Amino acid sequence: MSVQTVPSPEKVTVRTLWRKKRRGEPITMLTAYDYPSARFVDRAGIDVILVGDSLGMVVLGYETTVPVTMEDMLHHARAVARGAQRALLVGDMPFLSYHTTPADAVRNAGRFLQEAGMDAVKLEGGRERLEVIRAILNAGIPVLGHIGLQPQRVHQLGGFRAQGRTAAAAQELIEDALALQEAGVFALVLESVPAEVARAITRLLDIPTIGIGAGPDCDGQVLVYHDLLGLYDRGVPRFVRQYARLADVIHDALTRYREDVERRAFPAEEHTLHMKPEEAQALEAWLRARGLSDSREADRGA
Ligand code: KIV
Repeated sequence: MSVQTVPSPEKVTVRTLWRKKRRGEPITMLTAYDYPSARFVDRAGIDVILVGDSLGMVVLGYETTVPVTMEDMLHHARAVARGAQRALLVGDMPFLSYHTTPADAVRNAGRFLQEAGMDAVKLEGGRERLEVIRAILNAGIPVLGHIGLQPQRVHQLGGFRAQGRTAAAAQELIEDALALQEAGVFALVLESVPAEVARAITRLLDIPTIGIGAGPDCDGQVLVYHDLLGLYDRGVPRFVRQYARLADVIHDALTRYREDVERRAFPAEEHTLHMKPEEAQALEAWLRARGLSDSREADRGA
């Protein structure tokens, strides 16, 4: 049996994450996409809720995150903000919302804070995104970086492939990490990189690293809600630990509901509302007088 710890009720800020890094305390982060998932994640004491563009795959049913729009993200981010009080809330900037001009990027990043109640934004990319990151930071919007596998580049990469597997590729990632820290990102997501690379980056940076498929040495870990809970049945990455298999629980519940309705076992008496007897009799008399009496009742009586 697991012993459940009680998290501090204080609102998590970027400073909480820096303090955790200094003290060597692991940072927890999880995605959420709607009101109920945000409530569950917040109540579990997770430090950071990411409204990830992974919602394109696990909620909207796309093959990749590329089709996700700003409007999709804001719609889900608003619901998450209504469900969470404690966690730091990060809105994920979707494909093409920060790739055109720094002005577009600032406007879109600002919408996450102004229209959707987010505390910060995340965007994918290394040194090629420095100008945009600086512009967003200049507007007073905290930015979470994201390097390693960048799912928005899936078509360029030819699939969801681990990054930084050679010494040369790892050096590029380390240069990206240092440049993003220098620019001012408050933390850095490392996705699908070898543990050796994540360990080196984590040691070199003063800001926290948050890994997903990046081994045990990052300052924190992030997973996709649907992967952790076994809600997404279209393949789960090797780096995920499934803490539940809710897809099976849901399938079983829905099948039992269908069967109960089909064999008239639901609704049962305890789910049923009745009129007061005198009202039922008056209604029956009224129906009979008009020749509208329930034939099933008559059959049953016969
Ligand atoms: O969109 C997402 O869920 C993410 C995490 C995998 C870090 O970017």
